[in-house]
Amino acid sequence: MPRIPLLVANWKMNLCASEASEFAARLLERLQPHLADLGKAFDLAIAPAFPALDRLGRALADSGIQLAAQNLHAEASGAFTGEVSLAMLEDLGCSFALIGHSERRQLFGETDAMVRAKAERLAESRIAPILCVGETLAQREADQTLEIVAKQLTTALDGADDGLTRQLVVAYEPVWAIGTGRTATPEIAQTVHAAIRKTLIARLGPIGEQTRILYGGSVKPSNARELLSQHDVDGALIGGASLDPDSFAQIALASLETS
Ligand code: PGA
Repeated sequence: MPRIPLLVANWKMNLCASEASEFAARLLERLQPHLADLGKAFDLAIAPAFPALDRLGRALADSGIQLAAQNLHAEASGAFTGEVSLAMLEDLGCSFALIGHSERRQLFGETDAMVRAKAERLAESRIAPILCVGETLAQREADQTLEIVAKQLTTALDGADDGLTRQLVVAYEPVWAIGTGRTATPEIAQTVHAAIRKTLIARLGPIGEQTRILYGGSVKPSNARELLSQHDVDGALIGGASLDPDSFAQIALASLETS
């Protein structure tokens, strides 16, 4: 079964709810002729900041473009000021949730164990985890990339049940390529993605063959086609270039040409 490409916009702490509605209108206009292909030839999702989820969800209703959350708390509910729960994301109709993004790991102290707890929480739901992994520049220079990525993956998935593994998406995001304009070459991306695929198959069995592995880190219209045409690159997680509906649409269309 071929893996359908998945393109996910990660808006990070950008765009207000009102801007999200304008974005959606423009994106839908740009993708109009291809909306019927959503869910068949490609999947698209947008992860806005939490306050824009509701408005964006309404603006995208029935379009086939899905909602993603940038994060969630591992506990179901309780005294966790400033946090957002799984039930809240389900209530808003999210289909995906990022976990373990490198900015969460580096700026907010998230550990592999915390990422694993979030993965376990998501296993109770239909929201698919997009598990982000990736090495820092120092780790790459010390030739530790594959080891680091394998550890991040196996810790998050240790003992994971079928519910989790069936919907799992992995995003390989080398930290040195995020927001820096420095993209991994298609060869680097393919090498790491192939290693991730091997780890997934070793841990999860044949399902690992179907798991989508996205590349993230300075993806833009000018490099998307080449990256997406690599055998184990099944989509992209796009930060900066996803803030403009025209460039996000161009990347989405590039995925259609390579699928
Ligand atoms: P970038 O961000 O495309 O701006 O490099 C990617 C990400 O952090 O998900």
